[in-house]
Amino acid sequence: MDDEEASRYGMRRALTTFGYNVSEAGSAEEARALLKQLQPDLMLLDVNLPGMSGLEFLRELKSSSADGPLVIIITAHGSERMAVEAVKSGAYDYLSKPFELDDLRLVVKNAAETIQLRRENLSLRRRIEVERSQRGAFIGNSEGMQRVRGMIEKVAETDATVLVRGESGTGKELVARELHERNSVRSTGAFVAVNCAALPSELIESELFGHEKGAFTGAAARRLGKFEQANGGTLFLDEIGDMSSNVQAKLLRALEERKIERLGGNESIPVDVRIVSATHRPLEQEIAAGNFRADLFYRLRVVTIDIPPLRDRREDIPLLAETFTRAAAERYGLPLRQVGASALRRLVDYDWPGNVRELKNTIERAAIMAEGEELHSQDLPDEITPGVEKLKPVETDSEGGLNVPFTAEFREDRKEFERRYISRCLEHTGGNVTKAAEILGMHRQSLQHKLRQLGLGRRYVSVGADSAVDSDE
Ligand SMILES: Nc1ncnc2c1ncn2[C@@H]1O[C@H](COP(=O)(O)OP(=O)(O)OP(=O)(O)O)[C@@H](O)[C@H]1O
Ligand SMILES: [Mg+2]
Repeated sequence: MDDEEASRYGMRRALTTFGYNVSEAGSAEEARALLKQLQPDLMLLDVNLPGMSGLEFLRELKSSSADGPLVIIITAHGSERMAVEAVKSGAYDYLSKPFELDDLRLVVKNAAETIQLRRENLSLRRRIEVERSQRGAFIGNSEGMQRVRGMIEKVAETDATVLVRGESGTGKELVARELHERNSVRSTGAFVAVNCAALPSELIESELFGHEKGAFTGAAARRLGKFEQANGGTLFLDEIGDMSSNVQAKLLRALEERKIERLGGNESIPVDVRIVSATHRPLEQEIAAGNFRADLFYRLRVVTIDIPPLRDRREDIPLLAETFTRAAAERYGLPLRQVGASALRRLVDYDWPGNVRELKNTIERAAIMAEGEELHSQDLPDEITPGVEKLKPVETDSEGGLNVPFTAEFREDRKEFERRYISRCLEHTGGNVTKAAEILGMHRQSLQHKLRQLGLGRRYVSVGADSAVDSDE
């Protein structure tokens, strides 16, 4: 855009011979109309315009849209400061009058290259986005995961209250987010998560429902609770099993009436939230023990999504491992390494008490520590040891459904159990590790590894070459 017709004519002719499509505007109005109509890639903008400075026009343009045309500002001779100002305001480059056609050509050619790069970048990003949306952030094609995905698809659009169950690290929060993002109305609202286990009950209450100024000591100002923050969106109540009975009662009322009251307030505030809750505890047991209200439970689990533990869907492990390896490489700027066969074997065989989260952390650590061209077995930490399945007690609840969480106490018990069991077995074979491994259905190396882990390594020192257990040192 330039108000001098002659100079516009000259530029137009030149640019057309360089092979560009050119349109002209002599005023801000004309320019606005053209921009809207043609959505050009590049704009040559003279600073001196009738009525409005080119700089003002530039600022208007930049503030109205992030992906408008690149702008080359044309300044009068000797007004470098203006040019600097323009570039600061978002101009791509500048030309000072009078200029040679070669200067024009060069500046426009540079801009054209940038535009081309931008386009390629955009299409690449789109492609990644498309792939991601097809695959879903949610990885796993095992039967169990297909079922989970099917459930998500079925209920996401409804506003049904969903209870997500699964051991620690199975992806409960991820499911909750998917439910939110796949709801066309709510996804424009907020996804608000509250961890009910992380806060004492007095705090949970004000966290959820908010409070008025002066509601209690320290309530210096009104504060909106998570219910109000999630209005129009999704409220994710994590570790719902850890909620005190007082809060349970209030939550139930909020769910029934779809209204809340702030602490210290007497106004009933309507809220429109979709509730997704999660627990790693079998709530039925909590109900039986009198710790959880049955009526609240039924309210929360209108739909239940059960995520199977990772060890029950080992076929998902390779894809997860690959994805996490790539993510770690990107995140830490590491070379991208494939997961080697030996490492993959161990990953697939391991039981993953911490489920996907544990896998993710393990891979991340290994990716950082690894030095070879791929991830090798020795890049994995010692705990990733297969072969203890047969020793593990069954951990299903009365319905054969949910597994109990792997508490530290449970792990200790398991270790103790393994220690006794393996010791007995070794006594039986006279300390012959190979035979003991056969009986236990383990590889000899795995058993030796296990022995070291359990602190039994030194007790079964070699009797013959075959029964030798490597000492700890
Ligand atoms: N199917 C999956 N695909 C990709 N990433 C996953 C999957 N499941 C879990 N993750 C990742 O594993 C980690 C743990 O997931 P998440 O926090 O959702 O688990 P959780 O069940 O809420 O765990 P907790 O009970 O400990 O809170 C996250 O980093 C999550 O992105
Ligand atoms: Mg969680």
